[in-house]
Amino acid sequence: MRDSATQWTVRSRPNDQVSLANFEKQTVPVDAPSDGEFGIETLYLTVSPPARMWLTSGGLTGVPVPVGGVMRGSGIGRVVGSRHPGFADGDIVSGALGWTDYNLSDGAAKMPVQKIAAPEGLPLTTAMHVMGGTGATAYFGLYEFGLPRVGDMVLVSAAAGSVGAIVCQLAKMAGCQVVGIAGSDEKCNWLTDALGMDGAINYKREDVATRIKDLCPNGIDIFFDNVGGETLDAALDNIAHGARVVLCGGTSQYDQEAEWLGPKNYFNLVYKEATMRGFYIFSFADRFGESRDRLGALLRSGDLTYNEDILDGIDKAPDALLRVLAGENFGTQLIRVMPE
Ligand SMILES: NC(=O)c1ccc[n+]([C@@H]2O[C@H](COP(=O)([O-])OP(=O)(O)OC[C@H]3O[C@@H](n4cnc5c(N)ncnc54)[C@H](OP(=O)(O)O)[C@@H]3O)[C@@H](O)[C@H]2O)c1
Repeated sequence: MRDSATQWTVRSRPNDQVSLANFEKQTVPVDAPSDGEFGIETLYLTVSPPARMWLTSGGLTGVPVPVGGVMRGSGIGRVVGSRHPGFADGDIVSGALGWTDYNLSDGAAKMPVQKIAAPEGLPLTTAMHVMGGTGATAYFGLYEFGLPRVGDMVLVSAAAGSVGAIVCQLAKMAGCQVVGIAGSDEKCNWLTDALGMDGAINYKREDVATRIKDLCPNGIDIFFDNVGGETLDAALDNIAHGARVVLCGGTSQYDQEAEWLGPKNYFNLVYKEATMRGFYIFSFADRFGESRDRLGALLRSGDLTYNEDILDGIDKAPDALLRVLAGENFGTQLIRVMPE
């Protein structure tokens, strides 16, 4: 039975760019589970860009992680030492486990988690991206708000990322032409050569506005935006009549959210009778089964693929966040805290 947990707490708030010094590793004693409780050994954590906002504004929740508190993070864990009638040792659970290798839970108020089944015929880790919230974000964001039609020109930012790569592939399956924006030649080559996208723009090396004009000469019908900032401006300059701009994320602004850069040229939406709308995936929580079923079938048939970027050990959690914000991750950033 565990008597201690290793965790990362927030030591200080970043002013702009987050650094390793903003976190502190601690080993703390843990109690044995009481009646109605169980332990959770963390197997995997995901680290994604909004974690940056949890250090300052709190992002959507509006509540930042308190200084001294365990850093927020979603994960999958295994039940151990259960004294809870609804959870047996070995059950797999998911929830906001935080940056720790062990939690004590009662399944509800004290660390709420839900039991999950490993996706049939697929690696357990897919539950943390394609078969989880990431897949749902790509699926509902594209279909409900992008409204793809055969022949549409679709532009996707952070296209080699966890959400972006799924959007690209679904748009292609819908008969669209797809151009992805990513931050390295390796990622751009993967988009065109491995995923079969029609074009890719390396925003760190190329002029995005010029390349959009080259690759989308008749304008963009759907812009699925994960980054905001100057990329959003460049896309808005090139929308086609009736375009749908889907605001999913604003990764380029998370480090400077106090001075969030808004679009300069939003009035193009008027000229082009276009729409721009944001969405939040948890509004679709009651339909997650639909995205899981559809995306699971595509994974099993080999029509959908993904990249994972796995770091080993809870020690790596802060590095993982820095990697994601620097674009050093290639695919969903995971931390394997313990072997399955
Ligand atoms: N609306 C919702 O409900 C919802 C749900 C989930 C996620 N999201 C949002 O969706 C976006 C993508 O999330 P994800 O989990 O799939 O992350 P991700 O794209 O896998 O990882 C982040 C990637 O963003 C790119 N990036 C980092 N800093 C950047 C910068 N300053 N400018 C431009 N690109 C930058 C990097 O790729 P490059 O190498 O290409 O730069 C990096 O690999 C995030 O903004 C997230 O907040 C929204």
